[in-house]
Amino acid sequence: MSCFGCVPSGRKEAKRSKIEDSARIRPNPRLSAESSSASSRGGRSSVSNGKKKESGTGGRKSGTAQCFNFRDMAIASRNFRDLIGEGGFGKVYKGRLDSGEVVAIKQLNRDGLQGNQEFIVEVLMLSLLHHSNLVNLLGYCAEGDQRLLVYEYMQMGSLEDHLFDLQPDQEPLGWNTRIKIAIGAARGLEYLHDKADPPVIYRDLKSANILLDKDFNPKLSDFGLAKLGPVGDNTHVSTRVMGTYGYCAPEYAMSGKLTLKSDIYSFGVVMLELISGRKAIDSSRKAGEQNLIAWARPFFRDRRKFSHLADPLLQGCYPVRCLHHAIAVTAMCLQEQPNFRPIMGDVVAALEYLASQPYTSETNSGKRSPPSTKQAVGTFSRDSSRKGSSL
Ligand SMILES: Nc1ncnc2c1ncn2[C@@H]1O[C@H](COP(=O)(O)OP(=O)(O)OP(=O)(O)O)[C@@H](O)[C@H]1O
Ligand SMILES: [Mg+2]
Repeated sequence: MSCFGCVPSGRKEAKRSKIEDSARIRPNPRLSAESSSASSRGGRSSVSNGKKKESGTGGRKSGTAQCFNFRDMAIASRNFRDLIGEGGFGKVYKGRLDSGEVVAIKQLNRDGLQGNQEFIVEVLMLSLLHHSNLVNLLGYCAEGDQRLLVYEYMQMGSLEDHLFDLQPDQEPLGWNTRIKIAIGAARGLEYLHDKADPPVIYRDLKSANILLDKDFNPKLSDFGLAKLGPVGDNTHVSTRVMGTYGYCAPEYAMSGKLTLKSDIYSFGVVMLELISGRKAIDSSRKAGEQNLIAWARPFFRDRRKFSHLADPLLQGCYPVRCLHHAIAVTAMCLQEQPNFRPIMGDVVAALEYLASQPYTSETNSGKRSPPSTKQAVGTFSRDSSRKGSSL
């Protein structure tokens, strides 16, 4: 089933396979030195824009990550009572800070170096990067061998929780919400690629890492695998392959050459999950349907078959032309050749166009007439001479 030359790790057998290698994260040495000094101190200090600040009062300034001691964490989580999730990094608990703020506290499994490296990268990245579509890191604890991360609490959990294996009483996501989530995730990624300097390659885009607030506004989480992108004339960064099985771009999986286009591929996988309601990898499906991309590719070639890709839980409640546009965008992101994939700014523009044509009960009854696919897709070509390709 795998087209990858990399081995799924056993770190998270229960949910999905993570691709990883214990020796591969080489965080920017300047940043990592700052992190170690910040985290090795007792008491409360904070890191912001790479500079450590003593907070004095212990209060958190906006955009800074506060250093907590372990006792604060035990009190905030009522002794780690309210488990809300578990991933490869460790368990996630709900908690409440002194200030009354509800938080999610992620506690690192104490099983090795890899997690500690991811912890450092996560604290540094989220201390330096701030955007409404990136999860807010409120603080961290690095006391003794304890490593905890404190995030804003995202009430609706992850996108994965709303797409797959729904409970009988759970409402499936409607079309407009799916587009809203796609745009927010795309804007978060655009910020990392085009606004951060140097650019940041996220490397772990997947539906489990898109968290949702009470209004289904999405935020990207888990920056432990993020990498500073190529600078100057360099076209890629060389790394060992990391990411999550099923979301990883084929050229990156095969060569370890990481570019911003690797994230665009992963974004295409998430788009396809949003459209189809199918998991990137689903071993419970019959042969030929277990790998979502392999299953979907033949449908990309024939517009008349696009409706086969739509999630049956949508029950046909989507604007048909917008579905076609969304599939066109997705297929572009999933191009085998990285250079043919669009840049994130163009994906955002195309999705914003789709959002301007929401589904209403009248949408498919001929009363609304969205412009042609050419018009939507044309948003890709507004500046094709930039870093990416256009449709
Ligand atoms: N800030 C948060 N607010 C609310 N729930 C959260 C938050 N962070 C994580 N969670 C919950 O905890 C679960 C586990 O998250 P975690 O990031 O540890 O693992 P994962 O992303 O599912 O997998 P992995 O990181 O191992 O690839 C999430 O699916 C989500 O339901
Ligand atoms: Mg996660």
